[in-house]
Amino acid sequence: MKSFIEGLPKAELHLHIEGTFEPELMFKLAERNAITLPYESVEALHEAYNFSNLQDFLDIYYQGMNVLRSEQDFYDLTWAYLQRVSQQAVTHVEIFFDPQGHVERGISFETALIGIYSALQQGQKQFGISFGVIMCFLRHLSEEDAFETLEMALPHKDKIIGVGLDSSEAGNPPSKFTRVFAKAREEGFHVVAHAGEEGPPEYIIEALDLLKVERIDHGNTCLQDAALVKRLVAEKIPLTVCPLSNTKLCVVDDMKNHPLPAMLKAGLQVMINSDDPAYFGGYLNENYAAISGLLDNDKNLLAKLAVNSFTSAFLSDENKVAAIAKVNDYLARHNSN
Ligand code: ADE
Ligand code: ZN
Repeated sequence: MKSFIEGLPKAELHLHIEGTFEPELMFKLAERNAITLPYESVEALHEAYNFSNLQDFLDIYYQGMNVLRSEQDFYDLTWAYLQRVSQQAVTHVEIFFDPQGHVERGISFETALIGIYSALQQGQKQFGISFGVIMCFLRHLSEEDAFETLEMALPHKDKIIGVGLDSSEAGNPPSKFTRVFAKAREEGFHVVAHAGEEGPPEYIIEALDLLKVERIDHGNTCLQDAALVKRLVAEKIPLTVCPLSNTKLCVVDDMKNHPLPAMLKAGLQVMINSDDPAYFGGYLNENYAAISGLLDNDKNLLAKLAVNSFTSAFLSDENKVAAIAKVNDYLARHNSN
């Protein structure tokens, strides 16, 4: 099963580039930028990655970002991610970045964006990985701050395909960002939002009704509301599910209780993603492997998740059809031997 997963063509649609910051690289960049980390060693930093909820994680995640200063730092971070997933049969990525987490530290929007974007261009050239960049608004900050961030993105519409919403969910409902999402849509951006990770199903409904999102990031708590599940199925709204993230952040108590099989059974358009792989213990293939046993190692179901990753991507219909054909060819070859 491991080798089936390793070669299965797939897309990643829920990945925070700042969440790919491996401790080894963090120490290297800290040294380059003459920053002293509050940890003695790579091992000590690894040991700090024990979270009891989303906020616990976010505190360490924002602290880690602090090391990123130059365009080269953002390039190196993104390049390290691409090198890893180029070994995982990942052929398309749509990655999040958190501009406010950098701008508030005095790092310009362009420094972060251009560093990330240049590495993605190189990844397309060298590894054939197509890409899109989605900038997220930090929901613990104000609507006004989000508007200012959207303004910064306008000269870079050629490099940013969409806007998202992340950070501390509880107490920060999607409704707080209705107007800024309306403006983002008007400007032609795709729209997505984290909802139903820790927050109630009502936040998913708000994301659909008020923000008019095209995908829900996570969406686990939809299962508490049968009418909502029915709607998500009928409207074919993709849910970007992140198994290792869910267990690491205690959204799910144990992988054996992960809702993915129930989600598939309900007909929801789900796929697998890694969220913040450096912090949660695995990139895309490790997430597929973590869930595989729950799906009885059924190759058809694993391939279905890969197909969903392309169906749900912001790709042209032509590119979707070509990518899905590759998944189906791969499955056919593996089912015949
Ligand atoms: N930022 C990075 N990872 C996140 C997650 N899983 N939920 C909310 N905000 C995030
Ligand atoms: Zn996320």
